Amino acid sequence: MSVPYEVQGLGITELAEEFGTPLYLYDGEEITTRFAGLREAVHPSLEFFYSLKANPNIAICALLHDSGARAEVSSLTELVTARRAGVQPKDVIFLGPGKSRYEVEACLDEDIYSIVCESVEELGLIDELARERGIVAPVSLRVNPSFQVKGSGLTMGGKPRQFGTDEELLRAEGSGLAGRYPNIRLMGIQVYLGTRILSEESVVENTRRIFGLAEELSAELGFPLEMVDVGGGLGIAYFDNEKDLDLGVLAEGLNPLIEDFSARHPDTRLIMELGRFLVAASGTYVTRVRYTKTSMGENFAVTDGGTNHHMAAVGIGSYVKRNFPMAALERLDEPATEPWNITGPLCTPNDLIGKKVPMPPLRPGDLVGVQRSGAYGPTASPVHFLSHGYPAEVLVLDGKAHLIRERDDVEVMLGRQRLHRPAAEGSN
Ligand SMILES: Cc1ncc(COP(=O)(O)O)c(C=O)c1O
Repeated sequence: MSVPYEVQGLGITELAEEFGTPLYLYDGEEITTRFAGLREAVHPSLEFFYSLKANPNIAICALLHDSGARAEVSSLTELVTARRAGVQPKDVIFLGPGKSRYEVEACLDEDIYSIVCESVEELGLIDELARERGIVAPVSLRVNPSFQVKGSGLTMGGKPRQFGTDEELLRAEGSGLAGRYPNIRLMGIQVYLGTRILSEESVVENTRRIFGLAEELSAELGFPLEMVDVGGGLGIAYFDNEKDLDLGVLAEGLNPLIEDFSARHPDTRLIMELGRFLVAASGTYVTRVRYTKTSMGENFAVTDGGTNHHMAAVGIGSYVKRNFPMAALERLDEPATEPWNITGPLCTPNDLIGKKVPMPPLRPGDLVGVQRSGAYGPTASPVHFLSHGYPAEVLVLDGKAHLIRERDDVEVMLGRQRLHRPAAEGSN
């Protein structure tokens, strides 16, 4: 008897049958348990804002909101998603280096907690739109600090970057900045140093430095600190030789810092924004093998889904391909005896979601899953390549499977296109 992958008692064979493949399958219990574990470990004065960019599905956002998460959004649709999922404006922040006029207007009209401003020019736009409305906008400053994060998979600060405003530039502005924009209330500091951090010590050290920087900048720029957003970037292990963060160790380092800071600033909201850490482990990308073949001595399993839905599997910020955890989902007990290249339906050799993955012998019809794939899956993939469209998404909650996104079909894909051709000459 072979052992199948199950989510809350539901077998993968039946789930794939019911919802079809390729499919993103999320275990809701994994998400709520993870959030509860983090909430329990970390000092209560630190609020967690879910970064919708990791997985923007409204049902996932609602699940996290119901667990106590607030929302960090970076586009108009993400803002509307969070609001429709039930997140109150006072628990929403909006950041992003390229906000449109329309997005800033929406932030003001929705009266969200803070617009995280990423440049001096953006301050001018926010000020202008707030003046039109006769209001004063709550704005925090995203700072590109002079220091760098250690141990991040992808660095977002401490280097020449399009994100935030350089620390040195802000210091040079001094107290003049706040007075220049009468329709802006500077109220906070945000720093996001990088993603995929797997060292507890780095997260603690970053937080310590960000607290220090926030105190200095608020004094130099002359505004009270209503909020400090310490970013986050908490990672999860994907590859061999990586280890998940130990929440006990993290809390041991973080909690005294938070305790100390909030004792000195009892009215300041402390925020950590995270996406990957909350949702990545919950998701499995489920594909079905269509064809198997050998080419020049190597095994290939061509499945119905590939990098068009799971670009991250090609390699996250690295040139060397490393495999996500993968499995033959209906035969978990079978020894992985053969190296298999797992490819998708695209016409490019880069459409390789697993390279020489140890697997049991594969056959057409087998289900192959990419695990730990709940973050930066289809949302961060070229889903329109070859016009395949978005895959279905299913969330298992309380032992029941719910379709939370229908797969795109031909009509969806063509529905937004307009057939236009010049009228044929001479035709009548
Ligand atoms: C500014 C900012 N905040 C939050 C996130 C979410 O990061 P993660 O999913 O690593 O928690 C990102 C990711 O790139 C980001 O750029």
